[in-house]
Amino acid sequence: MEHEEYINRVTQFIKLRKNEEEEDRKKLEEFKKITNYISGQYDQDASYQTLREYIEKCENERGVKDGQRNRVFYMALPPSVFIPVAQGLKRNVYTTEGSVRLIVEKPFGKDTDSSNHLAHELGKLFKENEIYRIDHYLGKEMVKNIMNLRFANVLFGHAWNRTYIDNVQITFKEPFGTEGRGGYFDEFGIIRDVIQNHLLQVLTLVAMERPISTDAEAIRDEKVKVLKCIEPIRIENTLLGQYVGDGDKPGYKDDESLKDKDSLTPTFAAVACFINNERWEGVPFILKAGKALNEAKVEVRLQFHRVAGNLFGSSARNELVIRIQPNEAVYMKFNNKQPGLSYQTITTDLDLSYHERYTDLAIPDAYESLILDVLRNDHSNFVRDDELERAWKIFTPLLHKIDNRESDVEIKHYRYGSRGPKELDDFVKKFGYHRENANYEWPRQNVNPASNKL
Ligand code: BG6
Repeated sequence: MEHEEYINRVTQFIKLRKNEEEEDRKKLEEFKKITNYISGQYDQDASYQTLREYIEKCENERGVKDGQRNRVFYMALPPSVFIPVAQGLKRNVYTTEGSVRLIVEKPFGKDTDSSNHLAHELGKLFKENEIYRIDHYLGKEMVKNIMNLRFANVLFGHAWNRTYIDNVQITFKEPFGTEGRGGYFDEFGIIRDVIQNHLLQVLTLVAMERPISTDAEAIRDEKVKVLKCIEPIRIENTLLGQYVGDGDKPGYKDDESLKDKDSLTPTFAAVACFINNERWEGVPFILKAGKALNEAKVEVRLQFHRVAGNLFGSSARNELVIRIQPNEAVYMKFNNKQPGLSYQTITTDLDLSYHERYTDLAIPDAYESLILDVLRNDHSNFVRDDELERAWKIFTPLLHKIDNRESDVEIKHYRYGSRGPKELDDFVKKFGYHRENANYEWPRQNVNPASNKL
């Protein structure tokens, strides 16, 4: 790639603010001047030396002194070259005259052994506090908000346990398939792609105990503790699926980038895990993720127990929903007297929809916030080595079963654009989730349930 092409690539998505266009254009020009493209080979020291010389030249031009030569390396690379590139950087571009930070993107291995191998090899080169393992879900606004919600509200803090909560669902839905990414995806599948990392990270924030402080290590200590309480997922607590074409949209196996045309890689999975500790014993945490579904949605849904000895017959269970995307929101489904002459109880909600509540809302992109964390040397929203190891332990036996196509592994088909395999409703019901309140609509509803229309 030539320099110009590189600059076009990296700046094409940068948006100028409407009212500050002039100023932003100037900033963009300044940014272009300090941005450069140095090409090289992953396995040749000479390439890294060229990079080092360039960096030193920039540092010297800017008058950066020894002790302040801070360098951040972001490895957005195929996993097969993580180790050689880390070695090349360490040998040639590492400095003791400032801080060195290495950002690594997933996949961090494919199972416990490969992940441990990667951790071991990287560990020989960089100290744990120099490594930033990115899970971009940890940079999402509503994921970061889970700790505030839980630990800054007496109301939630006290109800956050098995005495009040019946089941928890963490759901990831995408309305498109693997289109063109089949080559990568087929090697990994939806569990490695989304559940073992993004959804499990969300689970740990929902389930962990209160950390002793907001320090990165205090938070990560609690996350590891909760992961240690989760048993490996059992196949009988799993529902797996793969999408098929709907006549218009292609099925997973129609993807041209897919090599194995008999692939049994799941593009949908629902798994129930249990946390064996005092707070959560017996409460299923259902993690569901799927490609080519009917909508785009990521949310956490805590469903509370039914009211005991209910005065009003059977009212719907309370639910607290944290909508991660799109349209960030926190809402609580609760029961209320139907307004007017009726004494009926209807389900409604306390709704904090960010776009309605906050008039000057500007939610940063997850990567924007995480890269800033790296510059600030804050590891809170990055995955620690022991956390990663524990996360793999929970999924590795199941993943090996699927990889080996063992006889008790069933992959159900579902149509592109549907809600997932038809067995899904029974699956979540088995773990206690009740889809109730036929008359409830979100975010707006008419008071008279008979004419409930948005
Ligand atoms: C990535 C997965 O990590 O996360 C993708 O590899 C997935 O398959 C993506 O589409 C989802 O991220 P977001 O931020 O769009 O929800």
